[in-house]
Amino acid sequence: MHFDTEVVHGGQHPDKLHRAISPPIYQTSTFAFEDADQGARLFKREEKGHIYTRLSNPTIDLLARKVARLESAEAGLLFSSGLSAIFNTIVTLVKSGEEIVSDDTIYGGTFALLKNIIPRLGIGVKFIDATDYDRLKNEITEKTKLLFIETPANPTLKIIDISACAEIAKQKKIPLCVDNTFATPYLQRPIEHGANIVVHSATKYLGGHGDIIGGVVVGAKEFIERLWDDAKEIGACNSPFNAWLILRGLKTLTVRMDKHCSNAMKIAEFLTGHPQVERVYYPGLKDHPGFDIARRQMSQFGGMLGFDLKGGKEAGKRVMNSVKLCTIAVSLGDVDTLIEHPASMTHSTYSDEELKKCGINPGYVRVSVGIENPDDLIDDLKQALAKI
Ligand SMILES: Cc1ncc(COP(=O)(O)O)c(C=O)c1O
Repeated sequence: MHFDTEVVHGGQHPDKLHRAISPPIYQTSTFAFEDADQGARLFKREEKGHIYTRLSNPTIDLLARKVARLESAEAGLLFSSGLSAIFNTIVTLVKSGEEIVSDDTIYGGTFALLKNIIPRLGIGVKFIDATDYDRLKNEITEKTKLLFIETPANPTLKIIDISACAEIAKQKKIPLCVDNTFATPYLQRPIEHGANIVVHSATKYLGGHGDIIGGVVVGAKEFIERLWDDAKEIGACNSPFNAWLILRGLKTLTVRMDKHCSNAMKIAEFLTGHPQVERVYYPGLKDHPGFDIARRQMSQFGGMLGFDLKGGKEAGKRVMNSVKLCTIAVSLGDVDTLIEHPASMTHSTYSDEELKKCGINPGYVRVSVGIENPDDLIDDLKQALAKI
């Protein structure tokens, strides 16, 4: 099946009891055993079945299987948030005394997790520029147990060559984990480029409507079983209703993404020619340093972009305070257009030096382009830029 058919039908069948097209929401904490012996068999894993929703639930499992299928992975697991998905992946793979190598440009929350919390568990973290492939090779040591990247990266849309990283990870015999939140499996499937694990903030494009928090991890069946074994004790589960909302969002993933991408390209082109704009960051622009790699590993360039203004931070503030249709808010991947200032908001966990090192300028403004009419969005930005 083609991807746009997969998102609608993949893994989903009318329910056996009433032939409902929409999957049932199994809104239950626990599941009744036929008798005491069956309960014991389920706990011993001698029989397959559901016990308790922190361990598994039919609506949640359906979603996890669906995302795995879309990502060309064997299996998946749903988490309470994207950060929970990343945290649980780390604790399943890396233990005290070992270390992680991560690209330096990542979501500010992930950065705080890696910088402040993971080291408390005795796990070392090295942040490096993963597009420096020679350095990457040298930084991965015997102690390194995970290579982590985001591409396109939040917030600068930095592009990293997944195949090149996968090759290095393979040589070093460690897994490569890619945060695919910005691209979604419609635009980029890291496992097809050699990655081992893919994580998502399902809060974003997978859900698509800004009404839930969730995270997903997909990968090999053996790894997902280990992850499940740990996650069920950590209590990182999500709710059946959230899983259902993500399932519903996924049905329109391809039509939403097509619109996000075409709108973003039009806005990037508009901003490129604007006299107040210093630089536009969008991987679909030919002068973006990652354009060739993005063209190779993505089918379209996504719905996220950013820009620096000639007037710096004050001008950026003026634009954010002047937009009428766009909303000043963090998060991304919603049908609504959202605008924010990474240095003081999503990436305020970075110090000034860390921001500088990653090229997140003080005046940089990030836009999650929605699915509104692009002319209305351009008009809104035009009137806001005129206020500088
Ligand atoms: C790329 C990326 N990964 C992970 C996360 C964390 O996801 P959540 O907010 O669902 O925990 C975010 C949140 O913005 C993100 O942008």
